[in-house]
Amino acid sequence: MKILAFESSCDETSVAVVEDGKKILSNIISTQIDIHKEFGGVVPEIASRHHIENILPVFTEALEKANCKLSDIDYIAVTNTPGLIGSLLVGLMFAKSLSYANNIPLIPVNHINGHIFSSFIDNDVKLPAISLVVSGGHTNLYYIYEENGKIITDLLGETLDDAVGETYDKIARILGLEYPGGPHIDKLSVSGKDILKIKKPKVDGYNFSFSGIKTFITNYVNTQNMKGNPFSKEDIAKSLQEIIVNVLYDKILMAVKEKDVKTILVAGGVSANKRLREKFLEFTNLKTDENEQIQVHFPKMEYCTDNAAMIGVAAYYDLKNNSQGELKQYDVDAIST
Ligand code: KG4
Ligand code: ZN
Repeated sequence: MKILAFESSCDETSVAVVEDGKKILSNIISTQIDIHKEFGGVVPEIASRHHIENILPVFTEALEKANCKLSDIDYIAVTNTPGLIGSLLVGLMFAKSLSYANNIPLIPVNHINGHIFSSFIDNDVKLPAISLVVSGGHTNLYYIYEENGKIITDLLGETLDDAVGETYDKIARILGLEYPGGPHIDKLSVSGKDILKIKKPKVDGYNFSFSGIKTFITNYVNTQNMKGNPFSKEDIAKSLQEIIVNVLYDKILMAVKEKDVKTILVAGGVSANKRLREKFLEFTNLKTDENEQIQVHFPKMEYCTDNAAMIGVAAYYDLKNNSQGELKQYDVDAIST
C-alpha cells in the first residue's frame, strides 16, 4: 500500500511516499529557515506564501524520487492540525484537490501524531512504550499500548506553559544567537559549565513547566549586563541543557517506574539534541517487567524535524486502527490548535 503524504504546518514544505507504513520511498523537505532567520522566528504570512511556491515542485520531486505515478497511490495523507492556519491550508487544499481529481481517498493527520509515529520508521517498536514529543510548539508525554489490535496513544502530560523548543529559541534570542536557537545552544554547551545549577520546577504528575527556567536565565543575563559583568554564553547554554534534559529524564523515569514500559521513544525537533540523546541512553540500564533491557529509539535526523514521511506513517497506523471511521474527506478543515 502506497501513501502520498503532505506536511506544511509550519515552515517546512514536505512531500513523501511511504510504502506499507515502513518503507520511505521518498521524503522531500524544503525548509524556509534561512528566510525566517532575519526575523528571529517564523512569520506566518511569509511562510504561507512560500508554501504556495514550493508545494508543486516538492510534490513532483517526491513522486519522481519514489519512481511513482499518481495511479500507483492508494491514499493521500495530509497534516490538517495543529499549526499555522495559512500554512496548513496550502497543504490541505493541494492534497484535497489531488484527492478529488484523481479519486484517491484523503486521510487527515494530526501533526503531533506524525511526530509520535516518526519513531516507528526503521524501528521495530516493542509496546507498551513511552513517547516524548519535544518540538517548538509541544512538549507531550504519551503512553502507547496495543488493545484489540489497535494502537492507543494516551496523553499522560504536557507543558503548562512554554514548549522545550520554544524555551531554547527564546534563550538563544537573549544570547543573540540565530533562529532556530536549539542547535546553536546544543553546540555551545559542549564547552560550557553548569554554573547556574537551576532548580527543577515543581510540577505535579506528568506535566511540565519551563517558563520559570526562561525567567531565571533572563534575570541572570539582565543582572550581569546591569552590573557590567561579563558572562559566558557557553555556561548558560550548558546550564540550560542540564536542567531541561534532567526534567524530561525524571518524568520518563517516573513513568517507567509506575507503568509496564518496554520502549522509550523520543521525537520532534528537540530530539536531535546531543545531550538529550546521551542522557537518555541511561534508560537502557533499566529492565522491563519481564527483565529485558528497556529500548530507547530516536528517529534519524531527517525524521526529527518536520517532514511528510512521518505523516504517511501515522496515516498508515490510523487506517490500521480504523480510527478515521468512514472517511469524509472533503469536510476536513485546517485547525490551528
Ligand atoms: O519539530 P520541529 O521541527 O517543529 C515544530 O513542530 O515545532 O521542532 C523545531 C524545534 C525548534 O524550537 C528548534 O530550536 C528545536 O526544535 N531544535 C533543537 C535542536 N534541533 C532543533 N533543540 C535543541 N537541540 C537541538 N539540537
Ligand atoms: Zn513538528
